[in-house]
Amino acid sequence: MSIETMGEKFTHDLADIFDAEHQFLEAQNEMLAHATSEALRTMLMEHIAQTREQIDNIRLVYAMLGVTNLRTDCKAAAGLVAEGQLLLHETATAPALRDCAIADAVAKVEHYEIASYRNLLKAAPEIDAEIARLLRRNLEQEEETANKIEESQPSLLNRALSIQRAAQYTS
Ligand SMILES: [Fe+2]
Repeated sequence: MSIETMGEKFTHDLADIFDAEHQFLEAQNEMLAHATSEALRTMLMEHIAQTREQIDNIRLVYAMLGVTNLRTDCKAAAGLVAEGQLLLHETATAPALRDCAIADAVAKVEHYEIASYRNLLKAAPEIDAEIARLLRRNLEQEEETANKIEESQPSLLNRALSIQRAAQYTS
């Protein structure tokens, strides 16, 4: 489909993140099923609820634009999800390392989403103030999650390292 107007480009970018949010929602549920750290599990549960809200916010944006919920295949999201699933598989025998891999995967996803919403927010204020407000809300939640996950990474890493060291002494 060719994109010839700013409005068409905006709708395309929206359809891309709308699909990405759906893919990430499913992926986060899969990660939650494998996460062992309580802090990581709490963060995932909170962000799963936020992701549902974000999907609803995008639906509201579509309603304001008079467009039905368009969803294009987000190849970047598919790649990030596939990479995360591979790491889940590869760390299957080391739960603490798997938690680190989950946190890393979430961090990559959040930064992709942050870039996507920042891109949309360059054009959104020109289109409608309420649309911009809804997308900014999504962006703020993604930024908050990225910060939280990055703050949690050192302790997850330390936990994995201490388990590894303990295993060396006992083997
Ligand atoms: Fe997110």
